[in-house]
Amino acid sequence: MAASAATERRALVAGATGLIGRRLISQLADSDRYTRIHALVRRPLETSEPVVSHVVDFDDLPASAADIGPIDEAYCALGTTIRQAGSKPAFRRVDHDYVVAFARLARDLGARCLLVVSSLGADPDAGNFYLRVKGETETELEALDLPGLALFRPSLLRGARDEFRLGEELGNAAMSLFAPLVPARYKAVSDRELAIAMMQVAETGVSGVRVIESEEIRRLGGTV
Ligand SMILES: NC(=O)c1ccc[n+]([C@@H]2O[C@H](COP(=O)([O-])OP(=O)(O)OC[C@H]3O[C@@H](n4cnc5c(N)ncnc54)[C@H](OP(=O)(O)O)[C@@H]3O)[C@@H](O)[C@H]2O)c1
Repeated sequence: MAASAATERRALVAGATGLIGRRLISQLADSDRYTRIHALVRRPLETSEPVVSHVVDFDDLPASAADIGPIDEAYCALGTTIRQAGSKPAFRRVDHDYVVAFARLARDLGARCLLVVSSLGADPDAGNFYLRVKGETETELEALDLPGLALFRPSLLRGARDEFRLGEELGNAAMSLFAPLVPARYKAVSDRELAIAMMQVAETGVSGVRVIESEEIRRLGGTV
């Protein structure tokens, strides 16, 4: 499917109800960059122009997203935790299967660029299960041969969540306490920095694969 005409710029977003996705949707909507922002969600989400939400079954993509039409760029902030998902296979289903299915959909809808939130340390050979899944996902995304793929690898995320996450809270507390000693690569990034960085990279355009870690995210997001 061909991408839309220059005057009609359309984005596709997955994970729009999460910490990063919510920030991304609001920044994208405020930017006037897109005439339409399609948010794929699993439960109804109240939106206003230019955002339109589509309740889809992520196990049944692309069929359940058949009415989207051409897009220019796709943003993926999908993800869960092993605790939230309930098991390692359930975690992999979201952080690997759904992300790859979303990427295939984006490619088939004509996306010039896919921007994905992955993680620092993502590595298909990692001993740590979370990082291995993130790495396997990245490898499969690269194999899709999209015109442009941007892999964002934040260390720790900072932002206001509805839910309490002990590991994240402890990590952020330690990060603040030892701030001067923490190497830039490991410094936490805020939801705002990451959302702005993703938009900046989409605006500049990506050819092939680009990996962006915390320090660059913070620089693009305007705080370094
Ligand atoms: N937390 C950190 O410090 C950290 C560090 C590095 C990388 N990351 C990565 O950053 C990404 C974004 O993180 P975040 O904190 O913004 O995530 P989040 O707040 O947990 O949001 C995750 C999004 O994924 C959706 N999702 C989760 N399970 C789903 C399922 N079974 N089916 C459909 N959608 C589902 C959620 O939808 P619902 O609202 O419907 O649940 C939500 O929109 C994730 O990939 C995460 O692994 C996080």
